[in-house]
Amino acid sequence: MSKSYDVVVIGAGPAGYVAAIRAAQHGLKVACIDEWKNKDGKNAFGGTCLNAGCIPSKTMLESSELFHRAQHEFKKHGIKTGPVEVDIAVMQKRRASIVRQLTNGIAGLLKANKIDGLVGHGKLLAGKKVEFTPVDGDVEIIEAANVIIASGSAPIELPFAKFDDENIVDSWSALEFAAIPDRLAVIGAGVIGLELGSVWSRLGSRVTIIEAMHDFLFIADRDVAAVAGKEFRKQGLDIKLGAKLTGAKVGKSGISVEYEEAGIPKTVEVDKLVVAVGRRPFTTGLLADDSGIQLDERGFVIVDDECRTRVKGVYAVGDCVRGPMLAHKGSEEGVMVADLIAGESAEMNYNIIPSVIYTAPEIAWVGKTEQEVKESGRAYKTGSFPFAASGRAKAMEQTSGMVKIISAKDDDEILGVHIVGPMAGELISEAVLAMEFSATTEDIQRTIHAHPSLAEAMHEAALAVDNKALNYPNK
Ligand code: FAD
Ligand code: NAI
Repeated sequence: MSKSYDVVVIGAGPAGYVAAIRAAQHGLKVACIDEWKNKDGKNAFGGTCLNAGCIPSKTMLESSELFHRAQHEFKKHGIKTGPVEVDIAVMQKRRASIVRQLTNGIAGLLKANKIDGLVGHGKLLAGKKVEFTPVDGDVEIIEAANVIIASGSAPIELPFAKFDDENIVDSWSALEFAAIPDRLAVIGAGVIGLELGSVWSRLGSRVTIIEAMHDFLFIADRDVAAVAGKEFRKQGLDIKLGAKLTGAKVGKSGISVEYEEAGIPKTVEVDKLVVAVGRRPFTTGLLADDSGIQLDERGFVIVDDECRTRVKGVYAVGDCVRGPMLAHKGSEEGVMVADLIAGESAEMNYNIIPSVIYTAPEIAWVGKTEQEVKESGRAYKTGSFPFAASGRAKAMEQTSGMVKIISAKDDDEILGVHIVGPMAGELISEAVLAMEFSATTEDIQRTIHAHPSLAEAMHEAALAVDNKALNYPNK
C-alpha cells in the first residue's frame, strides 16, 4: 500500500522546510522531500540558502571583512599587529562547518516535528500523487491531500560563458574557491556580484565587475546607490557599467573575458570568472506532463496571491514563484500556505519585504525608492541622517552612509526607508515593523531610541523629514 500524507512538500529550502514545520505544528502528517547534494557528495536539507547561498556567503563576508579591518582599521584604534595573513583552508573549513551545523539542524527540526524527511527526487503526478525516487531504494508513489512545491531556483547560464565548474563558475563554486584568485571577473553587479566581489577583493583578488546596465544598482534608491558605488570603488572594486559580455575564452594562463563598453571592444584577463546574472526557477524533472501545473513564459510556477496553483490542493512557494528571490519571502509564503491548508486565515504583505545586501557598508531597504514614489505621483517628503554624525558609528569607525526616510505629505505614511551604512540589515527591521503596523514618521520621531546607538540615525532621519533633526543641520 502506498504511503499517504496530509501534506507533501517538495524541496527543503527555507520555503519548503518552514512550510513543513508549520504544517506539522498544525498536527498534520507531513513529508518533506529533498535531493540537494553538496560538493562532498553528501545530501543535506536547507536548499540553496543554507548550502550555497545566504549562510556560506555571509560566513565568507564576515571572515573577509575581519581580515580587511585587521589590516586597515586596527591601526586607527591604536592596535598593533604583526603581518595579518589569510589561511584560506581554515576559512573554508569554518564555512563548511557552519553550513553543516545548520543543515544538520534542519534535519533535527524535521525529526523533532515528526516530519518524514525523505532524501531523493520528488515529481508531481496527476491527482496529487508524488513519485519519490530515493537516493537509495525503490521508487514509491506517495498520496497527498495537499502538495507544496518549493523547488527553488538555479543560476542563469550565459551562452558566451558556460559554467565549467573550474574556470567559469556560478556563485556556489565561487564561495568554495580553495585558493584566492589573483584576478577575478564577475559578470553582473547585482546582489551576488557585489557580495562575492567584496569577499574576494578583501582577501586580495583584483576584481573586475562587468554590468550590462548603465545605472549602478538600479534596484536601489538613487541616493543609496550613489554612496554605495563610491564606497565600493574606493575599496578597489573595478565596476564597469553599460558593459556587455561578448565572449570568454579559457586558455593556459587564465580566461580572456571579452566585453564591449560604450561600443568599444575590450578584454580583461583573469584567473576565475564568476557569472552572476540572476537566477531562474528550478523545475527540472518536477512535473509530470499531466500534473496540471502551469508555468509562465519565464518558467515560474503560476500561483495566485495565496500561492495556490491551478490544481486544487497544490501550492507553490519561494524562488520557484513570482516575487523577489529571498529566503525570508519564501519562508513567509510557506507559513501562509501551511496556515491556509490548516483552515486558518493567512496572507502575505508583498509590499513590505526587506532587501539587504551584506557588503560593507551594508545596504538595506523596504518599501518604495524615491524614484518609484515620484513616478506614483504621490506628494512626499524625505529626511536623511548621515552616519558621519552618529557617535556610535564614529566609535565603530564606520561612518559612511546614511538613513533616508520617504513619507507621504498628506498623512505622513512611511513609503520607503533606505539605509547604506553599518548594520543596515539589522536597522531595517525597525522600518519594516513600523510600516507593517502602519506607523507614521511622527511615530518614529516620538519613539525613544537608546543612546548611543546606530538606531538613533533612524530616529534622526525621521525627525529630518519634518526639519526637526537635533543632531544635524536641517535642509
Ligand atoms: P531553495 O533554497 O533553492 O531550495 C529548494 C530545494 O528544493 C533545494 O534543496 C533543491 O535541491 C530541492 N529540490 C528542487 N527540486 C526538487 C525535486 N524535484 N525533488 C527533490 N528536491 C528538489 N536570500 C536572502 O534572503 N538573503 C541572503 O543573504 C541571500 N544570499 C544569497 C546568496 C547567494 C550566493 C545565493 C545564490 C542566494 C542567496 N539568497 C539570499 C537567495 C536565497 O538563497 C533563496 O531566495 C532561497 O534559498 C529560496 O528558497 P527556496 O526554498 O524557494 O529554494
Ligand atoms: P541580480 O538580479 O541581483 O543581479 C544580476 C545583475 O546582472 C543585474 O545587475 C543585471 O543587470 C546584470 N546582468 C544580467 N545579464 C547580464 C549580462 N549579460 N552582462 C552583464 N550584466 C548582466 O542577480 P544575482 O546577483 O545573480 O542574484 C540572484 C538573486 O539571488 C538575487 O536577485 C537575490 O534575489 C538573491 N540573492 C540575495 C542576496 C541577499 O539577499 N543578500 C544575496 C545574493 C543573492
